[in-house]
Amino acid sequence: MDQFVIKGGNPLVGEVEISGAKNAALGILPAAIMANESVIIDNLPDVQDINVMLQAIEGIGAKVDRMGPHKVKINGATINCFDVEYEYIKKIRGSYYLLGALLGKYNYAKVALPGGCDIGARPIDLHIKGFRQLGAQVDITGGDVCAKAEELIGSTIYLDKASVGATINIMMAATMAKGKTVIENSAKEPHVVDVANFLNSMGASIRGAGTDIIRVEGVEKLHGTEYSVIPDQIEAGTFMCAAAATKGDVTIKNVIPKHLESISAKLCEMGCEIEEFDDALRVVSSKPLKSTQVATLYYPGFPTDMQPQISAVLALANGTSVVTESIFENRFRYADELNRMGANIKVESNVAIITGVSKYTGARVNAPDLRAGAALVIAGLAADGFTTVDDIKYIQRGYENFEQKLMGLGALIEKVSDDKEIQKFKLKVS
Ligand code: EPZ
Repeated sequence: MDQFVIKGGNPLVGEVEISGAKNAALGILPAAIMANESVIIDNLPDVQDINVMLQAIEGIGAKVDRMGPHKVKINGATINCFDVEYEYIKKIRGSYYLLGALLGKYNYAKVALPGGCDIGARPIDLHIKGFRQLGAQVDITGGDVCAKAEELIGSTIYLDKASVGATINIMMAATMAKGKTVIENSAKEPHVVDVANFLNSMGASIRGAGTDIIRVEGVEKLHGTEYSVIPDQIEAGTFMCAAAATKGDVTIKNVIPKHLESISAKLCEMGCEIEEFDDALRVVSSKPLKSTQVATLYYPGFPTDMQPQISAVLALANGTSVVTESIFENRFRYADELNRMGANIKVESNVAIITGVSKYTGARVNAPDLRAGAALVIAGLAADGFTTVDDIKYIQRGYENFEQKLMGLGALIEKVSDDKEIQKFKLKVS
């Protein structure tokens, strides 16, 4: 089982290049199969979730040509199966986007029902409600979701929660439905906008993505396109927090600063200096960090996917901070691990009370999920001594070359697979 071993204490200094957005690509790749022509997608992050999604797409018969680690050509003309294997859903929930894509194109789809995960129950009732309102019959039998329709007819769909997944899935199903669909209370995240822009580049007619009302005019067919995925807002935010925690000076390149406004605002409140450029941000953390309040909200509020990372920084701030997780019901699993590194975090239901401490001390910790794992790495980078992060498979699902990018900023971190390699690392850096 691979691990990260870190010798903390080095301020992160230098430049880092952000990869393409995982959560945008997980919607764009399934949408690509809706054309019967070649679609070329660039700036894909080279992470496991993307590679599994491409396997799922190949598994239903689409042509998938890897043109490099960040570029792929997909052609959906050869699809001959509309049942997505359970093994893919088990590996990545995002496979459920194939429901919307296949239903939208073929009026039929069968995908294993995604289970809950470490951060919550994560139901898909809103996805199903939207498909039904478009005229599909949706049944859940034997752990599968089966959706079929004579014809999909545009409808007005109100989302009880501004769900990213439901917005993207319903938008895809509506793209080739007959007539107009209105999605009300739609999610506004940058990756929702990216999927809408991608579909429009294939000939779809989607307006209002990025607002809470999305209007889709169904079209007969979609055509090929070439498209580049937006930079990853959450990867960028993770490096911003790593700079803040280690008292560093980091320029984060290939970002869209507007997507990072809530994160920049919080880090400024905490005493960091943030300089914005057209497609880069510079984060300087030279003053003592100040405590503050954070509440995760739908975009443009503070992202839930940045909650563990900002908490790892707040644990080193002067004073007491309050972090409220409003989106998922179980997203503080990392708190116990940070407390083992010397943090003082008390969790009551969906609120964490964080009393700042002067430093972390290195320890052996375990990453319970993707963003929690990133938070533990941030703590290890700032800690006195050595930290070993177990179970880094979660981190590798969402961060491309995470340790190499950190090493490029002066971090002493390595991916290891056994105690012997840990000892070797310790000797090398001591
Ligand atoms: C997406 O998950 C992201 N995943 C998550 O990122 C992210 O945390 C989340 O959006 C919120 O921004 C991908 O894009 C692949 P939601 P998603 O539907 O779409 C409830 C990461 O770290 N809900 O916006 O599953 C749900 O329980 C991952 O990269 C329903 O009740 O999230 C949650 O409380 C983790 N019924 C809230 O809505 C539904 O049908 C928001 O979930 C759907 C969702």
